[in-house]
Amino acid sequence: MDLKNITVLGSGVMGHGIAQVSATAGYNVVLRDIEQKFLDKAMEKIKWSLDKLVSKEKISKAEGDDIFSRIKPIVDLKEAVKDAQMVIEVVPEIMELKKKVYAELDKTAAPEVIFASNTSTLPITEIANTTSRPEKVIGIHFFNPPQLMKLVEVIPGEKTSSDVTAITQSYVKSVKKEPVLCRRDVPGFIVNRLFIPMVHEACYVMERQKIDKTVIDSAVKFNLGFPMGIFELADFTGMDVIHKATTEMYQRDKKVINPHPTIEKLFDEKKLGQKTGEGFYKYSDDKYERVPLSEELAEKCNPIQLVANILNNAAWLVTNKASDIEELEKAANLGLGLKKPMFETAKEIGIKNIVDELNKLAQQYGEFYKPDPLLISMQ
Ligand SMILES: NC(=O)c1ccc[n+]([C@@H]2O[C@H](COP(=O)([O-])OP(=O)(O)OC[C@H]3O[C@@H](n4cnc5c(N)ncnc54)[C@H](O)[C@@H]3O)[C@@H](O)[C@H]2O)c1
Repeated sequence: MDLKNITVLGSGVMGHGIAQVSATAGYNVVLRDIEQKFLDKAMEKIKWSLDKLVSKEKISKAEGDDIFSRIKPIVDLKEAVKDAQMVIEVVPEIMELKKKVYAELDKTAAPEVIFASNTSTLPITEIANTTSRPEKVIGIHFFNPPQLMKLVEVIPGEKTSSDVTAITQSYVKSVKKEPVLCRRDVPGFIVNRLFIPMVHEACYVMERQKIDKTVIDSAVKFNLGFPMGIFELADFTGMDVIHKATTEMYQRDKKVINPHPTIEKLFDEKKLGQKTGEGFYKYSDDKYERVPLSEELAEKCNPIQLVANILNNAAWLVTNKASDIEELEKAANLGLGLKKPMFETAKEIGIKNIVDELNKLAQQYGEFYKPDPLLISMQ
């Protein structure tokens, strides 16, 4: 397929960015939302972003104008998908809403059109099965903000054809992103399966070891190679996103996550993180603000329980044929900003020590901590 025409459904936080990167790569883009005012706002944001690139001399004024002119904002669905070859769906993360959108889309778009969902947590297979073309439905998980983040997880559903997977991967490369294939439609895909459970685990470490969050965050940043602490990263991501991902993942698989009540509590109290001025930490204004972490503080925490948690989930993905170690490391590097490979940290600590830690935790706190067979075999 010679892919030229993309329709993006939903012009919010992610949709406008995906439209921009697609137009930048030369695609003809239609951006669709339910009201003109949302489209106006999205086009304004795209214009602002392109102008910034022009002022930084990353692109010329003519290139900026050209990219902008390739994006057509359209409210009418029929008109919006008339020439589409691929529709990228970026509507809110509510299954009932997505199902309604796909039912309407399936009736409106020509039968050969590919549907790619930017869902972070919802099952692709379930979305696909609501359409008459499950072999043409796939997950395409961009990270926020799409203009900057290099990683895109590509997730085929149970019935997705290999052609559609190949077309989607090549589209991702064409927009200058790195596709990582999540070979099975598993809860959390790859990055959220590594990240979200670790936030909960960090809450357990704080509670059980009675240490301060800045101590844990320092260890995560300075010893595990994260770009920031895990609580800091949670605040940056937003407790609404983490809470939603937790609910979806836990509902589908009790083994993936051991929910700690703190996340729900912060969510209920609207302490969503940076965006509301308070999450795990307090922020004085809505500008991005770093928490003071240090190597000295890092020495006060042995992060083995956190390493054990992320490694056990990584191993699960390999054992269950959703990924392999090389691809997992790439996803963790590009999606979480991890500077040090997870399995390298594990080898430094000793895989046997990690397995022993997991067995100890399993004895004390239950089955959730049982080590994955891959880790046992790597000792
Ligand atoms: N925000 C993130 O950090 C992030 C990261 C990765 C993936 N995602 C996923 O991307 C999707 C969208 O998230 P978002 O943060 O951009 O949401 P958002 O609320 O910012 O934007 C969603 C947009 O969809 C529009 N919409 C609703 N119904 C529609 C319809 N029938 N047709 C067209 N547009 C419709 C809304 O008006 C809104 O403008 C979700 O599945 C989310 O899980 C979000």
